Amino acid sequence: MSLPEKVRLVEVGPRDGLQNEAQPISVADKVRLVDDLTAAGLAYIEVGSFVSPKWVPQMAGSAEVFASIDQRPGVTYAALAPNLRGFEDAAAAGVKEVAVFAAASEAFSQRNINCSISQSLERFEPIIEAARAQGVRVRGYVSCVLGCPYEGPIRAEQVLPVARALHQMGCYEVSLGDTIGTGTAGDVRRLFEVVAAHVPRAQLAGHFHDTYGQALANVYASLLEGITTFDSSVAGLGGCPYAKGATGNVATEDVVYLLDGLGIETGIDLERLIEAGQRISTVLGRANGSRVARARQAR
Ligand code: HMG
Ligand code: MG
Repeated sequence: MSLPEKVRLVEVGPRDGLQNEAQPISVADKVRLVDDLTAAGLAYIEVGSFVSPKWVPQMAGSAEVFASIDQRPGVTYAALAPNLRGFEDAAAAGVKEVAVFAAASEAFSQRNINCSISQSLERFEPIIEAARAQGVRVRGYVSCVLGCPYEGPIRAEQVLPVARALHQMGCYEVSLGDTIGTGTAGDVRRLFEVVAAHVPRAQLAGHFHDTYGQALANVYASLLEGITTFDSSVAGLGGCPYAKGATGNVATEDVVYLLDGLGIETGIDLERLIEAGQRISTVLGRANGSRVARARQAR
């Protein structure tokens, strides 16, 4: 399969990145991050989550963040919603796109959202119905598509029914998440081959955590499978609070560098993106997780 001309990047740093931080991060710092990402040309930014603050305390201020960010036309500002309560809070905050999240593993579903996979899918039905009535778009996630921190290896055949259910239910796109970053390029190709038999490739996305250093190779393997949407996190921020030891997503800067090199358009200004990543890394007091950003700074 030939490489695409354009790729769509879903920036998950403010959500997937920051949700895992133990230290408090002010609303102002979150707002600055989102505004910096908008200025760098990201067309899709996952800003926060409307989840229980007891489960993920760091996302508690999401409504305030939405109220303060500079929302530019043509940019999607999205949030996670695990249940109808979360959807209603998101809609009240003016959110126009939400994401529901399921898992390919039962154990992870229980730890992450306190219910079984089938219960989670039942919970999403009323969200999708309410979203449709209010003109809100719904994206779907499947976690643990290549491995689970509690159950070990996961087969593509376990992912397929969950991805297919989300798609059939009305998610316009389903993002397949390698939550613990153990997957390798061959696994990724097989996963997309199996899932794409029932969910069109144009409606699938790759979400790769870089725990084992495989994420960029997995993005490339996905491109070869005809996948053109990827989730990534500025400065490689993040992890998942319910996947111990999991590191951040593939760094957006590194994906943009790869795509630029392949002549694939993203609409993103790499230099401004590097500045955004450096600013939040400084706020968090940690090394920048993007190799490209580190290399540029060392020059
Ligand atoms: P539960 O405890 O079963 O829910 O949690 P409950 O309905 O029994 O409610 C318990 C309490 O939470 C109640 O408050 C509710 O009001 C409150 P209390 O009466 O005890 O004071 N509550 C809420 N508060 C605010 N917003 C809400 C909400 N819902 C209930 N929406 C629940 C179930 C789903 C709520 C919980 O498990 C939860 O919030 N989980 C979120 C976990 C999470 O955010 N994980 C990280 C995101 S997923 C991820 O990172 C993976 C991804 O990146 C892809 C990948 O990498 O694989 C997407
Ligand atoms: Mg994730």
